[in-house]
Amino acid sequence: MAKYSININGQTHDVEAMEDMPLLWVLRDVVGLKGTKFGCGKALCGACTVHLNDNAVRSCSLPVSAVGEGRITTIEGLSKEGEHPIQQAWEKFVVPQCGYCQTGQIMNAAALIKRNPQPSEQEIEQSMQGNLCRCGTYNRIKAAIISVTSQPK
Ligand code: FES
Ligand code: FES
Repeated sequence: MAKYSININGQTHDVEAMEDMPLLWVLRDVVGLKGTKFGCGKALCGACTVHLNDNAVRSCSLPVSAVGEGRITTIEGLSKEGEHPIQQAWEKFVVPQCGYCQTGQIMNAAALIKRNPQPSEQEIEQSMQGNLCRCGTYNRIKAAIISVTSQPK
């Protein structure tokens, strides 16, 4: 076991964990933030997506020891009350079905518009294609992202 001080959603959390423990385990089981979901555990589905310094990463496959001084943002810290433009678009377009994959979808979409505020449709598809949704909400996801990125800035 080792001790880590991790910045999660703007707060420092001191945790004890094995160095190869995935960040997802730390978030859910040690810190108690359950909004980030476990899907495949093999970096294949995107359900566990969080931000590391504003970039989308798969927390099931990122060892806690690799976080270092990085800033982690989870769905709980994306906005105070769901006012992030992506969250609002998700609501407007009634994107979720069962909802299980949607944390990861939202976090990936939020990282996309942060690095590229006006992506093309192709760029949206490329960025989002690794986030799987068994309910098939892909068309609504795309429409919601376009509604945000096509707005005049
Ligand atoms: S649970 Fe991490 S990518 Fe599937
Ligand atoms: S909304 Fe059910 S898996 Fe995506």
